[in-house]
Amino acid sequence: MDVSVVGPGALGCLFAARLSRAGIRTCLVDYKPDRVKRLNSSGITIESSDERYTEHVHCTVTFPRTTRLVIVLVKAYSTKTLTKLPSCPILTLQNGLGNVETLCSLVGSHRVLAGATYEAAHSLSEGVVRHVASGLTRFGAWTSCETQIAEQILRQAGFLVEVTEAPGQAIWEKTIVNAGINPLTAILNVCNGALLQIPEARQLMRDLVVEAVKVATSEGYRFPFSLIERTEEVCLATRENISSMLQDMRAGKKTEIDAICGEILDRAQIAGLPAPRTRVIWQLIKALETK
Ligand code: PAF
Repeated sequence: MDVSVVGPGALGCLFAARLSRAGIRTCLVDYKPDRVKRLNSSGITIESSDERYTEHVHCTVTFPRTTRLVIVLVKAYSTKTLTKLPSCPILTLQNGLGNVETLCSLVGSHRVLAGATYEAAHSLSEGVVRHVASGLTRFGAWTSCETQIAEQILRQAGFLVEVTEAPGQAIWEKTIVNAGINPLTAILNVCNGALLQIPEARQLMRDLVVEAVKVATSEGYRFPFSLIERTEEVCLATRENISSMLQDMRAGKKTEIDAICGEILDRAQIAGLPAPRTRVIWQLIKALETK
């Protein structure tokens, strides 16, 4: 196998199916043996506005020894549980802050590629994914890992790719977008696009983005464009999507709130910055998770 995608959620299935469809030997790694069995027999189905196909991607519980690239798409809170990662570049495209540091502690920073993807998808049922919008996947070497294989493989599968010298910036940008969109869609139980239609929600989304930008700035990041505009653009481009946090909430699963708003709050505290709206939103999602 050339590529192992770990995490059978909407994005994991999308990436695995697209890579496999492009003729790249791909394996989807999942820790649940019963689900692996079902996915091996059903295949992964991807539907979008213009096509529907089923790809028979090989699924396993362990990483094949021949893996040349791992793409990590497990939930942020599961990163620390990854074991027996093969000796090859490990690319994280997960939501939230903190994944890179966890992976560096597991495999060493010289093997870590990090970034973010604006591909938008949600699960319709196990192994069946609705691909709502394509978007840029931006990543780079965290320290010294070579980027070439990952770039070539992702391009071959038709992903829109940009290699960056500043992967930390790409991750922060996406986290700020997620901090604006994800918890609000989960609390209001609406698709991403609805946040632009409801004036109070739109204003709160903007306020959350402003708080997060201030925290990122305290860590030395500078954004050469408006993150408010960027977040609204993503909302529009992914208007039909059910955000990953709303998907988790509807499925009664733990959300990625700690890796998004929780991390922003921790870092705000270190910088001595107030982030009152982010705190309330974090508290509301934590409360809803217990329901
Ligand atoms: O987490 C998500 O749902 C996605 O990152 C995004 C881009 C907000 C689209 O729904």
